[in-house]
Amino acid sequence: MKTHFDINQYIREGAINGRIYTEPDVFTLEMNKIFEKTWVYVAHESEVANQGDYKTTVIGQHPVIVSRGADDGEYYVMFNRCRHRAASVCQDEKGNANFFRCQYHGWTYTNSGDLVGAPFQDGYGEEFDRCKMGLIRVPRIASYRGFIFASLSEDGPSLEEHLGLARPYLDMIADQGIELTAGAQKYAYHANWKFQVENTIDPYHLSFVHKTFFDIQDKKKGVKTNFARMHKQEKVSDLGNGHSLYELADDLGIGALPFNLIIFPNLSFVGSQVRVIKPVSVDYTEVALYPMMLKDATLEENAARLRKHEGFYGPASFGTPDDLEVAFDRVREGLRSGGEEWLIISRGMNREEVNENGVLSGNSSDEVSVRAIYKKWRELVTI
Ligand code: FES
Repeated sequence: MKTHFDINQYIREGAINGRIYTEPDVFTLEMNKIFEKTWVYVAHESEVANQGDYKTTVIGQHPVIVSRGADDGEYYVMFNRCRHRAASVCQDEKGNANFFRCQYHGWTYTNSGDLVGAPFQDGYGEEFDRCKMGLIRVPRIASYRGFIFASLSEDGPSLEEHLGLARPYLDMIADQGIELTAGAQKYAYHANWKFQVENTIDPYHLSFVHKTFFDIQDKKKGVKTNFARMHKQEKVSDLGNGHSLYELADDLGIGALPFNLIIFPNLSFVGSQVRVIKPVSVDYTEVALYPMMLKDATLEENAARLRKHEGFYGPASFGTPDDLEVAFDRVREGLRSGGEEWLIISRGMNREEVNENGVLSGNSSDEVSVRAIYKKWRELVTI
C-alpha cells in the first residue's frame, strides 16, 4: 500500500476519479478499511434454517462459513481455515452437517467450530490444548429481521446504528415473510465491484439501457412511458452510511418491492430479489441474486415471482445482460481510453432537498444515490 494516500486525487465535489475502479492499491484499501471494518451481509436466516445448516461465503477477501449450531441452534460465522495448516475445511456452497473435517490431515471440527479430533494426537505432546484450536469465529455477528451480518472489527457502531434510516425499509421487506429458498442466480464480470453498487440504484439509465423492456411494456399496456415525468414523480434518497433508496412511481411488473435499496457495501434489494456483491479483485466481481420467495404464498404465486425475476434479471432477459455490457464492459473500456480522468456524479446537486431527518433526496434521474455511496466510501477509506 502507498504510504501516502491523497483522497483528493480520487474524489472531489460532484466527481470521482476513474482510478478508484482500476488501481489495485485502492482495492486493497477498500478491503482493509471498508470490508474488514464495517458490517458485511453474510446470509439470511432462512438459508440456515435448521440446526446443522451451513453456507459458505466471503467477507471481503476472507472465506467464511455461516452455520447454525447442530447442538445449540445458535448462528456462527467462522473463518474457513483449518487451524493446522490453513486448508479450507468446507467447500460446499451450502448443506447440513454436524462436523467439518479437513481433508488435508483429518482435523475435525463441530459445525460451530470446536476442534473435536486431531489424528494421532500424541505427536503434539501434552501442551496441545484442543479447546484453543477451534475454527476462529469472526469478532462480531448480528442479525436484523432475519438478515445476518458480520464484522471483522472488534468495535465500531452496532448493526442497528449502521443500518440507521434503512431499517424501516428492511422491516417492510421482512414483513412480507420472505425466505431465500430458491437458490441463487450468479454472474461475474471483469470490472470493479462499485460498478454494480452504483448501477443497482441508477434510474437515470433505465430509459436508455433498458429501452426495449419499456417499449414492450408500453405496447402491452397501450401507453407511452414519459420518462421525464416518471423521474419527477420518483425519488432517490441518501439514507446515510452509504445506504440509499429509489422509490418507484409505478409497479414495473418485475417485482414486489416498491423500492430499490442499497445497504452499503455489499447488499441490495431490487424487484423481488436480494442481491449480494462479492469483490474478488480490482477488476473482477461476482454477484449473486437470490429471488425472495414468500412463506405464505402458494407454489404458483412463488413460481410467478420467479418467472418475473427471470424476465428481467435472467441470463437471456431484458435487464441484466444489457447492464453487463453497457454499464460494466463499456465503462471499463472507456476508462482505459484515457483523455480524461474524472467521472461526473453531480447530476441534481443543484436541486437536492433535505428533510427533517437530514435525508437528501432528488428526482430519480439525479445522482443523489451515487453521491451517497461515495460520501461513506470517502469517510471509511480515510479513517
Ligand atoms: Fe487441516 Fe492439516 S491443514 S488437517
